[in-house]
Amino acid sequence: MKTDTRVKVSKLLKSEPGVEMLVKGWVRTKRGNKNVVFVALNDGSTVNNIQIVFDMTQFSEEALKPVTTGSCIAVEGTLVASPGGGQSVEISAKSIHLYGTADPETYPLQKKGHSMEFLREIGHLRPRTNTFGCIFRIRHAMAFAIHKFFNDKGFFYLHTPVITASDAEGAGAMFQVTTLDLNNIPRDEDNRIDFTQDFFGRASNLTVSGQLEGELGAMALGEIYTFGPTFRAENSNTPRHLAEFWMIEPEMAFYEIKENMDLAEEFIKYLVKYALENCAEDLKFLNDMFDKELLARLNSVVETEFVRLSYTEGVDILMKSGEKFEFPVYWGADLQSEHERYLVEKHFKRPVILTDYPKEIKAFYMKQNEDGKTVRAMDVLFPKIGEIIGGSQREESLEKLEARIKEMGMESEGLWWYLDTRRFGTAPHSGFGLGFERLLLFVTGMSNIRDVIPFPRTPKNAEF
Ligand code: 4AD
Ligand code: MG
Repeated sequence: MKTDTRVKVSKLLKSEPGVEMLVKGWVRTKRGNKNVVFVALNDGSTVNNIQIVFDMTQFSEEALKPVTTGSCIAVEGTLVASPGGGQSVEISAKSIHLYGTADPETYPLQKKGHSMEFLREIGHLRPRTNTFGCIFRIRHAMAFAIHKFFNDKGFFYLHTPVITASDAEGAGAMFQVTTLDLNNIPRDEDNRIDFTQDFFGRASNLTVSGQLEGELGAMALGEIYTFGPTFRAENSNTPRHLAEFWMIEPEMAFYEIKENMDLAEEFIKYLVKYALENCAEDLKFLNDMFDKELLARLNSVVETEFVRLSYTEGVDILMKSGEKFEFPVYWGADLQSEHERYLVEKHFKRPVILTDYPKEIKAFYMKQNEDGKTVRAMDVLFPKIGEIIGGSQREESLEKLEARIKEMGMESEGLWWYLDTRRFGTAPHSGFGLGFERLLLFVTGMSNIRDVIPFPRTPKNAEF
């Protein structure tokens, strides 16, 4: 190889013919005859392949024999206008270097068109498919857009801990973190586990949410957001739950529920619009291959105003709907995804923000309404997903917050640091959490959350 000026396929496909260059990537397909061989090469920079043409008067059959689907090669050649349809340029090869073969007998992605279920079983190789290439490029673009959105607004990215002794909000069962010898657990006089001997000197776990620490940041920096992994040991094997998922949690001093809703709506619309503008090729692929309504749905969300109504009004609509639900609806019931989707997909036909939920089904920190029954919660409900965002205005009164903690039978001892925000310079504030993978389900049109994260963690599944 003479040159080390490797050019990525995404750039090559937009380049003018005539240049000499080097391309590296994995072979998607090879076809041809004894005069000419065509290789479709992909390097992950785009869903599209570059076609490489081997004039077989210049290459030996031996040299091209190990170039099979899945193998990795480098090719030097000239970018030329392509006479065939489907691509405007192709590479006329001058030399080839083989990095790695992929035995056609054993390479699992030899053929196209595997089921999503099968691809989950070969999660270590599925990024090499067109579909997962698209999904992971979109995932990257959305992560970048999230930082851009908040940075442009003057929010600060706050890193909240992954390991914590707080259980945040009882959002779900927690994964314990310990260095105690599980075969020889130390016990105190009352025969309880002696966590003073544990690494952190107390029982600790993986975080279920960065919110409580986020509030500490908001009460100092004004507007912050977290964006990190969160962990919930729920044994729920649904297409919308992961045991390890990423959450974006903005928290804003001086925001009341109305501004909180405005921000949530602006945020999601910004992200969807960003995807439409910056991931056009990948979205088109997913639209054509999986979900013919994807692009229309994304465009419609950017353009329509979300409906805002109270939980009470929502439940009323559901009860009068005459629809047969698997779970019963009544005032006080925790809404299931089937209820949320009915409101969004059938009744309003657009995203819905539901507010003022019964306090019994929401976390202790939510601002209590005058009626004594509801709290200033807000859930954003989306087509095909159900709940995509959960948030609220926070209770800023120390007295009311302490009363609620007691009422719920929670231990306030471990929350002294959180209560200090209300003790010293308390202020109205609000925030919400967007489930990153739920957002990606919506943006990619995938129907199973295991397919929008590179390495899904679900019950009995953590091998790689
Ligand atoms: O509604 P949740 O539990 O809210 C909180 O954790 C708050 N602390 C957020 C806040 O106000 N700062 O979770 C927020 C979002 C949900 O709306 C959902 O999108 C996502 O996180 N989510 C999950 N995503 C995947 N798998 C799970 N097991 C999820 N649980 C929640
Ligand atoms: Mg929620």
